Amino acid sequence: MNLSIPPSINYLTGRIDAEDIIRKKTTLGALKGVFSDETKRARSAQDQIIYHVEMLPAQHAEGELNFGVSHIEPGLIGDEFHMTRGHIHQRKEQAEFYFGSQGEGLLLMQTEQGEVSIEKVFPGSVHHIPSFVAHRLINTGNTRLSALAVWPAIAGHNYDFLDEIGFKVRIFKSSSTFKVVHVDEVDQ
Ligand SMILES: [Fe+2]
Repeated sequence: MNLSIPPSINYLTGRIDAEDIIRKKTTLGALKGVFSDETKRARSAQDQIIYHVEMLPAQHAEGELNFGVSHIEPGLIGDEFHMTRGHIHQRKEQAEFYFGSQGEGLLLMQTEQGEVSIEKVFPGSVHHIPSFVAHRLINTGNTRLSALAVWPAIAGHNYDFLDEIGFKVRIFKSSSTFKVVHVDEVDQ
């Protein structure tokens, strides 16, 4: 018998406690063309971290699963909330689960046909991202948004979808909280 202490997570902060965590930071400088106000993005501090992902060492085998957490810092680029670049899986048929940990935000999902659905993300929320659906997290709150994720190791990430189709809606700050605007109606 082999009794050991596995990695652990603080569900209230999304902080993973493990020896060999992989961390990937995404700065504003790496998000060219992602926000609607590209001029404002280009003029803001390029080394500002918009989000970072922590994950347990990646699995590579067919049938294996990955576990990670996305942390999106609060803030705006123009009137648009901080968000992840967003992706569809390279193996598009592979699904994923997200779990809200802290903060408040939105999960934007879009089918290949351009059909959009949006779910509120909050501590304890559970999100099933089906096959063939692109996804992006948006922080609509004043504090860090953290969401846990479990996805198939073979799923991979396809970011080219952004250039080819792109998300059809954007989320802007409004007097109440946020508003959803179709890309065709965004003032350039
Ligand atoms: Fe994903």
